[in-house]
Amino acid sequence: MTHEYERVIAPADALRLHLNENTAGCSPRVLAAIHQLTRHDIAIYPDYDAVTEACAARLDVSPDRLVLTNGLDDGILATAIAALKHSPREAPFESIIVVPAFDMYAACTDAAGGRIVEVPLGDDFVFPLAAILAAVNERTRAVFLTNPNNPTGGLIREQDIVTIARAATQALIFVDEAYADFAGQTLLGPALDRLPPNIIVGRTFAKAYGLAGIRAGAVVGAAATIAPLRRTVPPYTLNVGAAVALPAALEDIGYFDWYVAQVAESRQLLYRTLDGLGITYWPSHGNFVLVRFGMRLATVIEGLAARGVAIRDRSRDPGCAGCARITTGIVEHTVRCTQALEEVLCGAA
Ligand SMILES: Cc1ncc(COP(=O)(O)O)c(C=O)c1O
Repeated sequence: MTHEYERVIAPADALRLHLNENTAGCSPRVLAAIHQLTRHDIAIYPDYDAVTEACAARLDVSPDRLVLTNGLDDGILATAIAALKHSPREAPFESIIVVPAFDMYAACTDAAGGRIVEVPLGDDFVFPLAAILAAVNERTRAVFLTNPNNPTGGLIREQDIVTIARAATQALIFVDEAYADFAGQTLLGPALDRLPPNIIVGRTFAKAYGLAGIRAGAVVGAAATIAPLRRTVPPYTLNVGAAVALPAALEDIGYFDWYVAQVAESRQLLYRTLDGLGITYWPSHGNFVLVRFGMRLATVIEGLAARGVAIRDRSRDPGCAGCARITTGIVEHTVRCTQALEEVLCGAA
């Protein structure tokens, strides 16, 4: 069986609430920085000193602990290659993936020649610490954890991550913090030094900072642990547009704070609507909410699409029968979504 990323296309004019993107767009300072690029800047290989410094400062880590990547996908691929590259054909190295999960962990494990070991979340999406520990063996080389989880929005306790890292010292424990900006909880900062050295943290600037299209991410960890990733990521993986966009986005803290607050308000608005409609959902720490529409799933997805709102069908993910994931971006967009939901489910005008 091969594993690949599923591309989900939405009509060009749809309100895109299906890919957890930033629905407001990036900070205006990003465009200003890109406009300042000269013909010469475009013609030469980019330098990353300034962007590395800016990124490390914002993430509160030293620059030698950080590898910039062309989106976090690039960091996931580099992690899989670094962890699995010497995998023997007859007894492949293994990646433990807690499912449901972002497609790229399986796709990159597959691409790097590793074996995928899926461990499902427990009832009501409880983090399956005991099952993960039971799945660890001498061939385990990577464990992919998402905090907060995509698509459930649930959090993992730091002590559970540490327990896994201590049980699998031969493996990279990749903690994907793609949505940590919305959760206000991270492993990054000075406390990183106290964590087991096989823990590495992935970050993306696609979500809260709105840079999905220009591609910018980072992997952070102990200098010796990320050294093999540094050798795996191509030397000019960020294009010059991303190299100037990222510092501009990072310094506009007012814009970032405003967007994170919009997302928090949007989640509450969506919860209130779903409570009113008597529909099950899982409270989320990300910029999205997983909702169980059950038998009405197809009606909801089609009804919203007919009203120009795209949401993501997650019903084929383990434990997610009847579920869709809805991005909670700016409040104005969430209001459009909740009104459309009420129309579809209650026939309200
Ligand atoms: C959990 C998770 N990790 C990583 C990514 C990829 O981030 P990027 O766009 O920076 O490659 C996503 C994107 O949706 C995601 O949901």
